[in-house]
Amino acid sequence: MTAPVPSAAEQHSPAGTPANRKRLPPGPKGLPLLGVSLDLLRDPLELMRSAAREYGDVVRIPVILQSRILLNHPDYVQQVLLFQQSKFHKSTLTKETTERLLGQGLLISEGEFWRRQRRLAQPAFHRQRINEYAPTMLECAEMKARDWRDGDTRNMAEEMMELTLEAAVRTLFGTTLPGEAQQVGRAMTFLMRYSLRRARSPLRIPAGWPTPKNRRATKEFDFLDSLVYRIIAERKAQGNGQHHGDLLSMLMGAMDEDGTQMTPRQLRDEIMTLFLAGHETTALTLSWTWYLLSQNPAADARLQEELRGVLGGRAPSVADLERLPYLHAVINEVLRLYPPAYIMARTSIAPSSIGGYDFPVGSTILISQWVMHRDARYYDEPDAFRPERWLDGLADRLPAGAYFPFGDGPRRCIGQGFALLESALVIASLAQRFRFELVPGTTVVPEPLVTLRPKNGIPMIFHAR
Ligand code: HEM
Repeated sequence: MTAPVPSAAEQHSPAGTPANRKRLPPGPKGLPLLGVSLDLLRDPLELMRSAAREYGDVVRIPVILQSRILLNHPDYVQQVLLFQQSKFHKSTLTKETTERLLGQGLLISEGEFWRRQRRLAQPAFHRQRINEYAPTMLECAEMKARDWRDGDTRNMAEEMMELTLEAAVRTLFGTTLPGEAQQVGRAMTFLMRYSLRRARSPLRIPAGWPTPKNRRATKEFDFLDSLVYRIIAERKAQGNGQHHGDLLSMLMGAMDEDGTQMTPRQLRDEIMTLFLAGHETTALTLSWTWYLLSQNPAADARLQEELRGVLGGRAPSVADLERLPYLHAVINEVLRLYPPAYIMARTSIAPSSIGGYDFPVGSTILISQWVMHRDARYYDEPDAFRPERWLDGLADRLPAGAYFPFGDGPRRCIGQGFALLESALVIASLAQRFRFELVPGTTVVPEPLVTLRPKNGIPMIFHAR
């Protein structure tokens, strides 16, 4: 027997709850509704974890006059992403900005339209094609290494954004954006903070009002738009046919069954989506990797030993990667501890029941990689960086839904193979040449924006090996 999600009054009044129905655990209580939302604002990562620890696998979190249901069990994650996925639509806290930025791109579109667009983009992400991107990815790492000097101090988060942005535009769109990477990074950081602040604020000034923040947001939106339109215009000028087979030519040449092409607006949305999704999350994976290796010298030494043994100082190739198990374990562990996509939200479009509870249409469901990946039921010493844990078959022993840095089900990340290949090649290439030391006295704090970012970057000292 499943149960409806009780109202706040029912939660605190057992008499009002029918005896044969399961009552939803009350969630963080003792705080007024607004108090909880302020807590959520201040430290959402800790709030979610402590709510899961204290209230279990299904928790209702009040957020400014609404509530969200946080599901903290691998089976429930699977229900939402896989078994009952057709009952949910994507939901985002930052709907306003996300739609302004990504329109109806692959990340947020739904239904038949999404299915068609996904089918269209999929060939560009087949393993064989991704492997062809390897030399370009390595060349981007090489360019960075050439630019770095022994003793440099740099913000690693910015360095990695530049690297992965260049790799994404070269491989996916056959172009380059020299000199603009920093500006893209700044625009993204501003827009993420701006949109979250707006989403969480009960009193929202209309986006069209000319406040300084709104004006800056318009400027950043226009800047990103202009880059995407430039990519399209360049390709048109070159003639699309010459680039047969790359992602951009596929999208530009794609025909619907009735023979119509994508509208310029659709094309812009897909390119913006892949442009942003294609570099930001991988840059974060790499940044967190250098940070965690700098804090764990034993892991760093073991990685060095493996790289030296297999590569002996030369550049890695795709064929080398299967002989680098520790490198993959490091990447798995980074994505466990600092998953760039740390939370996923869905809105139910049909009634569903999960874990014995009924969720009516319109419920907002949250599942969080940050919470699940640090759950002590599945991971020993969950907060410790221990790549070794992945070397003895942990991935096969874990219940499905306990580790999902790339999501799962039909909406699973289309760029997973791309991101894992790029991460492995870049780490293998750069770790052989440099050791990165966190600037002494720095505290690195994860900031849960749309993605999980290091709040003030990661200042590091570069030591040539
Ligand atoms: C480590 C790097 C990455 C991580 C952690 C990551 C994570 C994710 C996650 C969790 C989702 C599912 C979101 C949901 O279901 O709500 C997703 C979807 C997506 N990702 Fe990634 N991603 C990464 C890299 C990439 C790259 C390199 C690309 C493109 C080149 C990309 C493009 C996309 C797209 C287009 C979707 C939407 C797919 C769909 O709904 O059909 N991602 N990603």
